[in-house]
Amino acid sequence: MKARFSAVAAALLLAALASAAAQTQPPSIPPPWMNTSLTPAIRAALLQSKMTHEEEVRLVHGYVGTDSPWLPKGYTPAIRAALPSSAGYVPGIARLGIPALLETDASLGVANGGHMRPGDQATALPSSLLTAASWNNSVAYQGGAMIGQEARNKGFNVLLAGGIDLARDPRGGRTFEYSGEDPLLAGIMVGEAIRGIQDQHIISTIKHFAMNDQETGRGLMSANIDNASMRESDLLAFEIAIERGAPGSVMCAYNRVNDSYSCENDYILNKVLKQDWGYKGFVMSDWGAVHSTVDAANNGLDQESAYNLDREDYFGDPLRMAILDGSVSGERLDDMARRILHAMFANGLFDDPPVKRPLDVDADLLVAQHTAEEGIVLLKNENDLLPLAAHSRSIAVIGGRADIGVYSGGGSSQVIPIGNDPSQEILIGGAVRQVAGGQLQMPKDTIVLDPPAPLAMIRAAARGTQVRYDDGNDIANAVKLARSSQIVVVFAHQWMREGWDVANLSLYGNQDALISAVAAANPRTIVVLETGGPVLMPWLDKVGAVLEAWYPGNRGANAIAEILFGKVNPSGRLPITFPQSESQLPHPVIPGTDGTRLLVAPGSRITPYDIEYTEGPNVGYKWFELKKLTPLFPFGFGLSYTTFDLGGLSATGGTTISATFDVSNAGKREGMQTAQVYATPPGGVARLIGWSKVDLKPGETQHVTVTADPRLLATFDTVGNVWRVAEGDYAVTLGSSSTDVSATATVHITASTIKP
Ligand code: BGC
Repeated sequence: MKARFSAVAAALLLAALASAAAQTQPPSIPPPWMNTSLTPAIRAALLQSKMTHEEEVRLVHGYVGTDSPWLPKGYTPAIRAALPSSAGYVPGIARLGIPALLETDASLGVANGGHMRPGDQATALPSSLLTAASWNNSVAYQGGAMIGQEARNKGFNVLLAGGIDLARDPRGGRTFEYSGEDPLLAGIMVGEAIRGIQDQHIISTIKHFAMNDQETGRGLMSANIDNASMRESDLLAFEIAIERGAPGSVMCAYNRVNDSYSCENDYILNKVLKQDWGYKGFVMSDWGAVHSTVDAANNGLDQESAYNLDREDYFGDPLRMAILDGSVSGERLDDMARRILHAMFANGLFDDPPVKRPLDVDADLLVAQHTAEEGIVLLKNENDLLPLAAHSRSIAVIGGRADIGVYSGGGSSQVIPIGNDPSQEILIGGAVRQVAGGQLQMPKDTIVLDPPAPLAMIRAAARGTQVRYDDGNDIANAVKLARSSQIVVVFAHQWMREGWDVANLSLYGNQDALISAVAAANPRTIVVLETGGPVLMPWLDKVGAVLEAWYPGNRGANAIAEILFGKVNPSGRLPITFPQSESQLPHPVIPGTDGTRLLVAPGSRITPYDIEYTEGPNVGYKWFELKKLTPLFPFGFGLSYTTFDLGGLSATGGTTISATFDVSNAGKREGMQTAQVYATPPGGVARLIGWSKVDLKPGETQHVTVTADPRLLATFDTVGNVWRVAEGDYAVTLGSSSTDVSATATVHITASTIKP
């Protein structure tokens, strides 16, 4: 009894002492790197100086996702379930309070395309190409902010966003994930989207650095191009976007550039990105894009993102060995860690970590809808067939799965949208499988249609008009319906996905024949295209109107219906040239194929091959001008339900071009015009140097000034490592597309150099 009493007394005494100690102890002092008044660089250096080399190696070594079987020991099912289902994962370092990196794809919404966790949905933004077609910085920013916020609310702190490889080939399987063919337009739109993301205290990447301009053989091919041309085209797009958006990370690409793998390419990583551009963030590898330890580390790679997908584990034990034997220096390892920490401090990952919360779905869907409303492009509208009157007698809606939803692109960016019903996804030769733990796994060849259905939205907008649907599979049936309807809306699609280029630009299956037959039966036919990028239109002369809706996302159907019925006046402009045929492209046959068959199957061990990008910087509309080719629709083109005048151009020269002009609404409806300014250096081809998207009431005029970034007038001198603007007379063109000439001026430019 006594013994027991004394044990209880001792416990009480200890508790009392402990509480007294707690009261008298000074509150724990936060470590110096948590002082938010210090710069990210100082905070990163303070923290990095406390890390052991072992901890630094852990920070530069990532795993492929929280649902993968390869996480380190100790990740019990309960611990995994508490983490969001991610594409990449870098464990944190508890001793120093370094949070884990939880990475998800990305640019088109929080990707959850593996269907790993049933019920996991996110707002599907329209494709990045559609966002670029808005030519509206704030649309790109708002889209980025929305997905950044959704990512935070799901517990992520890194978005693998910012796809910006130039669309050198419109057949490229990721054309929908990128922002078109022009370095200025792509640079500004992607930079704004990254700013929107990172303002939510999330790190964004920019990717895929560099020249991942086609998917065919992406892990095998070498994109060969002279350095000057690369600086003036693909790298310029990255440069502009990085200046504007300051992404925390740059993701290096699968392909080689001039024979050296992107993730161990000294020129693009060390010389251009880190030295010339002074980039402070870190380079992470694409998933499975690392090929060495010493070369990769010394030539600029800072983090192996998903070592399980690389042929070997390059940044685990091999990096430890390389540090020990001195082939990678301790200073370089410190630099790698410091760069990662810099991105984390600069973007609030320490100070404002994400907290899981329900999504604000209604607000987020409105952002997606607004994006679609500004990026859908009206390509043809004969005799003002559009907008439709709500009281049309009867409307036939044909094809394109318009009874279910709108098309989206496939691959790692795939979003399982809000309102998704997996039974309505289209499986091409595969089936959604149930795997261990009740998780679902989506095969790669699943097409996801984003709800709601255009048919339902058209019915709602048509207010009582008879709207009948035909799936378009049997052309004779569709023709019958078209003939007995006043108006026909045909939905046509082209599906693209990461990893595969489309073989050609034709709509597949019976779609061209269907459109031709329906238009022959009823000339009041409107074609709505849901495509990743440009397609050919052999039926163009026969149809009344064409609307390019791209992949319009989770409220795409609403936007399409609003444009068809005139509630929204279309204002999108093409961010990419539509050719008349593949023969007009710099590479009529996709390099690595014989035109129909892939010569290099992805994943095969066929000898690596080269693509010679002999068109150099002349991508898209520049190529068309150089070769005097007439496209089907030029870059920058798009119609409106009103008409505009562009005029009053006056331009000044000197060290750069400044153009002042008037944009007027000459029609009867409010609408937005995108006035574009192009400059042609002596002996060169025209380059977009700026634009202004203005919203005008009927009769209204706005006076606008556009000033060129002088790099857009320059060529890159690789010997002097400077931009050189040549002295001479430059032609300035004001127009509503790359081929429209509304007004011209000539200015004299003086010679100058600009340090990169
Ligand atoms: C893609 C990247 C993506 C990564 C992670 C890769 O296959 O090329 O864009 O971020 O997977 O999902």
